Amino acid sequence: MLKSKSVLIGVCGGIAAYKVCEVISSLFQAGAEVRVILTDTAQEFITPLTVSTLSRHQAYTDRDFWQATHSRPLHIALAEKADLFLIAPLTANTLAKLTYGLADNLLTNTVLASRCPILLAPAMNTEMWEQPMIQRNWQQLRRNTRYHSIGPGSGLLACDRKGAGRMAEPPEITTKLQSLAYSQGQQDFKGKRILISGGGTREHLDPVRFLGNPSTGKMALALAQAASDRGGIVTLVHGPIAPELLPISPNYKLISVVSAEEMETAIMSYLVESDIIIMSAAVADVKPTDYSSEKIPKKQLPTELKLKPVTDILGRLGNLKKAHQTLIGFAAQTGEIVNPALEKLKGKNLDIIVANPIDKAEFGFGTNTNQAVFINAKEQQKTIESCSKLELAHRLLDFAKIGAISSDK
Ligand code: CTP
Repeated sequence: MLKSKSVLIGVCGGIAAYKVCEVISSLFQAGAEVRVILTDTAQEFITPLTVSTLSRHQAYTDRDFWQATHSRPLHIALAEKADLFLIAPLTANTLAKLTYGLADNLLTNTVLASRCPILLAPAMNTEMWEQPMIQRNWQQLRRNTRYHSIGPGSGLLACDRKGAGRMAEPPEITTKLQSLAYSQGQQDFKGKRILISGGGTREHLDPVRFLGNPSTGKMALALAQAASDRGGIVTLVHGPIAPELLPISPNYKLISVVSAEEMETAIMSYLVESDIIIMSAAVADVKPTDYSSEKIPKKQLPTELKLKPVTDILGRLGNLKKAHQTLIGFAAQTGEIVNPALEKLKGKNLDIIVANPIDKAEFGFGTNTNQAVFINAKEQQKTIESCSKLELAHRLLDFAKIGAISSDK
């Protein structure tokens, strides 16, 4: 999604500047053309050499701004070329300058000369972050639709405090930039309430043993990211997900469940208010008939397990859904994918089904890439070739939007 995109990064003077080196490196590896501006104080933390080595391009400083070595003013040339602009870490000082339109260095002049979406990743000490004037500036700046934000999260800060003010982690920033590269910051789902389920459920036999599946929740996290980046008010109900995959500063609500029954309860409590419901969870179909609240000793384990069905949550949603709601299911299939998915679409009264092959190493459970065929209730199909799960999520939202317009929802 970032291939050949021109990403301009403004680094301000904060200790989190060292983390931006990782962002520069991963953007370069993703095929982006990366240009970096360092403020004077940023150079107290990282050097132009570090940045130019990682970006494979000269790092720009205020010294370049005032030298007549460029054919066009440097801030104009950089601003015009940028498809995306990241400012990380955003310090209290630069936040205030941006809020009031001040332009006293290369970075702030380039911001004013640019037109592309700008992603802000603030980082500062908790006391500083919580100052009323900082919060006022932050709220005011974000009212401008050009600005997008990530974090800050909470955690251990370099000042030894634990609290708000920690810059978002580099992989989160890179993912957010990928999402922005696709959407260009458009808020086409603004105000839409989007309920997403993801990950696998676990049906326990006792506290340590369960029936489960290898779903990691990556597809659902990608859907939640894409939908919230496009203005949706997102709730993600998810089965167990590895903590390192969860964002530290998500801009959506996360509800963690374990069993299909818990997932059903959570989903049902958000159903009425939701405009779009996407069931990407790998929900168990059955659970052990008996549950022991004490761990069953090995010698007493049954040699055969009695099972009973769990509710088909999507089937229930299909019966309950109102005309204004869009219901989307996933059909994880081996072998032929379209016909079984079509059957599920009709059988569960869905608006869209995502037919998803899971028998190829690079797609399906746990991978970062996916491939699918989207099918709507009119049996129109759209084949999505192999792409990142984030891109597939954006494309599914595009498909849902077109479907919703054509059926006048
Ligand atoms: N699903 C659900 N509740 C279940 C099982 C599945 O809501 N108890 C949902 C999944 O989230 C998915 C869709 O139903 O969106 C299809 O799931 P899948 O496992 O592919 O199909 P099943 O309906 O379970 O049918 P089968 O296992 O026979 O393929």
